[in-house]
Amino acid sequence: MPKTNISTETRLTRGQFFAENIVSAVRGGNLSTPVNILLVGIGSHRYFGCGYEAYNTFACLEHAGVDYRATVVDLLPELVADFQERGELYVSFRTLNDLENESRKAWSQYLQWTGQGEKIVDTSQVVIPSQRRGFRREFPNVVVRAAKIPASLEQKLGNQEVVAVQGNIKSIDLQQYGPFTAAACVNVLYQLGREPRDTMKAILNITSNVERSGLVYLDLPWLPFFNFDPSFSVDVENSLQDLMGLERNHFQGDNVILYRKSLPYGSPTRRLPRSLPILLR
Ligand SMILES: C[S@@+](CC[C@H](N)C(=O)[O-])C[C@H]1O[C@@H](n2cnc3c(N)ncnc32)[C@H](O)[C@@H]1O
Repeated sequence: MPKTNISTETRLTRGQFFAENIVSAVRGGNLSTPVNILLVGIGSHRYFGCGYEAYNTFACLEHAGVDYRATVVDLLPELVADFQERGELYVSFRTLNDLENESRKAWSQYLQWTGQGEKIVDTSQVVIPSQRRGFRREFPNVVVRAAKIPASLEQKLGNQEVVAVQGNIKSIDLQQYGPFTAAACVNVLYQLGREPRDTMKAILNITSNVERSGLVYLDLPWLPFFNFDPSFSVDVENSLQDLMGLERNHFQGDNVILYRKSLPYGSPTRRLPRSLPILLR
């Protein structure tokens, strides 16, 4: 199992944008229910061990009354096991900078979506045992807050409508879990290394299992290079999107984009620029 270079960093705000867009698409009659979601990369808070993206996603859908099924994939077996077993999420706030403010808002949103109040818990019980000393040293007076995972998720984990699977997004066979209505793979692809071929493999594995007109939420690691590297151009970007069967829906940040699966995957409509085969070789 490759352990090196894997980041499990996550934030409380993750998942909200994706979920809110699924809800809008369902309400607009553009996605049918139950939606079948693919989430790649669970994440794990350094001290509390929980991810946040999946919980925000399912909390938002639950609150909006959008029924769902889901497959959650991660490379690390311990994160998959955690997701299958976890009943509560933990958070702490320390400073009042902008990021913290965003996190506080996200926590209130999560509590509202799931219809619960927070509980203040005993820090020594909820911090991962190997991290307790470091946590006490770094955050001596911090309060830890807890809330339950979404009730619908707990039920769906029990009846297998939501499954968590260990696998590498480059190679895992997703066919048995799809086709998906919406897929998110954010803060994962940059970890596949600098070979565009590996990134493409992972993206094609996702998009080929998303139904036509489904939503695909990705951060493409090569986009920041477009402005600087003359071998990347708008033509290359368009052709890559064609290859992946995607059409831009809208940006969230610099390189975080919500796409619509609009083309059959692998059938480019534009002529491939000469530099593309070099990138994918
Ligand atoms: C930085 S975290 C992001 C988690 C979550 N998507 C978020 O944005 O909060 C990356 C996650 O992807 C997982 N991961 C890394 N490489 C992967 C791969 N090749 N296939 C599946 N999961 C992978 C890591 O184990 C980790 O949980």
